[in-house]
Amino acid sequence: MQSMTAALEVGDVSFLGAESIDTESVKQEEKVDRDNRTTTGKQFVDNPRMTCRDVNVYYDDNHAINNVSIDVGRNEVLAMIGPSGCGKSTFLRCLNRMNDTVSSCRITGDIYLDSLDIYDKSVDVVPLRAQVGMVFQKPNPFPKSIYDNVAYGPRIHGLASTSAELDDVVESSLKKAGLWKEVCDRLDQSGTGLSGGQQQRLCIARTIAVRPEVILMDEPCSALDPIATATVEALIAELREQYTIVIVTHNMQQAARVSQRTAYFHLGDLIEVGSTDRVFTNPRHRLTEDYITGRFG
Ligand SMILES: Nc1ncnc2c1ncn2[C@@H]1O[C@H](COP(=O)(O)OP(=O)(O)OP(=O)(O)O)[C@@H](O)[C@H]1O
Ligand SMILES: [Mg+2]
Repeated sequence: MQSMTAALEVGDVSFLGAESIDTESVKQEEKVDRDNRTTTGKQFVDNPRMTCRDVNVYYDDNHAINNVSIDVGRNEVLAMIGPSGCGKSTFLRCLNRMNDTVSSCRITGDIYLDSLDIYDKSVDVVPLRAQVGMVFQKPNPFPKSIYDNVAYGPRIHGLASTSAELDDVVESSLKKAGLWKEVCDRLDQSGTGLSGGQQQRLCIARTIAVRPEVILMDEPCSALDPIATATVEALIAELREQYTIVIVTHNMQQAARVSQRTAYFHLGDLIEVGSTDRVFTNPRHRLTEDYITGRFG
C-alpha cells in the first residue's frame, strides 16, 4: 500500500489526450535516457479503474514481467503492444487472476480494482472474473445454443431471478455486442454455428452479460477477417462508453484506431506508456520507435 500511495501522490496525471498539452512532460522528455528500461511516459491517470504497482511475474525462474506500474483509466481503451513473448498476455492475465491457473506462475506487487486489492486472500476469483471479464484470441463459444451461451454467466452468478429477467439480460447483452439483429430469430441454434466474427461478438455478449467493469481482450481480432475485425473494432469504440477495456494487439493500426492510451512492452519491461496519438507520432524511447516503425519485432 505504501508504494501505491506514493505513486498516486506523484500526481503527474493525464487522461485521454490531456498529455499532449502537458508542457512539463515535454521538458522531461528531453531528459529521458532513451536506452534505459524504466518506464517512460504517463503511467498514472486521475481516478483510475485499475491500479497496478510494482508487478512482477515469474514462471519458475523465468522473470516474465519486471516491476510494471500502470493505471487503467475509466472508460478508456488501453492498448498493450510489443514483440512476441514480451509479456503482454501474462500481464493482461494478472488483471483478473487468470494466471492463478498456471502452477509455475508467481506474482508480486499490487493490483487494485478501484479500492479492491484483487490478490487479497479474501477475494473470490469467480466474481472477480465476472467483474474483470476476458475475451480470448480465438472465439470460444460453448457448444450450447446462442441463448445459453449468454445466459450461462447470469445463471451461475444468480443475476436474474425469473426467466423473463434472463431473457432481458440475453437480449440486452446481444444488443450491446451488436449481434442481436443477426441472431434474434435463431437463439436456440448452436453458438458454434455462427461465423468467426459473430462468434467473437457472442463471446463479448457472454462477457457483458455478467455486468463486468473491465473487459480484457487478448488479440480479439487476430482470427477474424477484415470485415469482422471492423465490426468488433466499432463495437469496442461503443463499449468504451460503459466499460474499461484493455486490449492486446499485434496490429498497430488497430491499436491506433481503437485505443486512447498505449503501453509498449519489451522483454517483460513496460518501456513506454502514453496517449496513443503521442506514442505513435512521437515515441520517446528508442525501443518503442524501433517497434512501431517496423525495425523490431
Ligand atoms: N503458461 C506459461 N508457462 C510458462 N511460461 C510462460 C507461460 N505463459 C507465458 N510464458 C512465458 O512468459 C513470457 C511472456 O509470454 P506471453 O505469452 O505473456 O507473451 P506475449 O507478449 O503475450 O507474446 P505473444 O505476442 O506471442 O502472444 C515468455 O517468455 C513465455 O514463454
Ligand atoms: Mg500473447
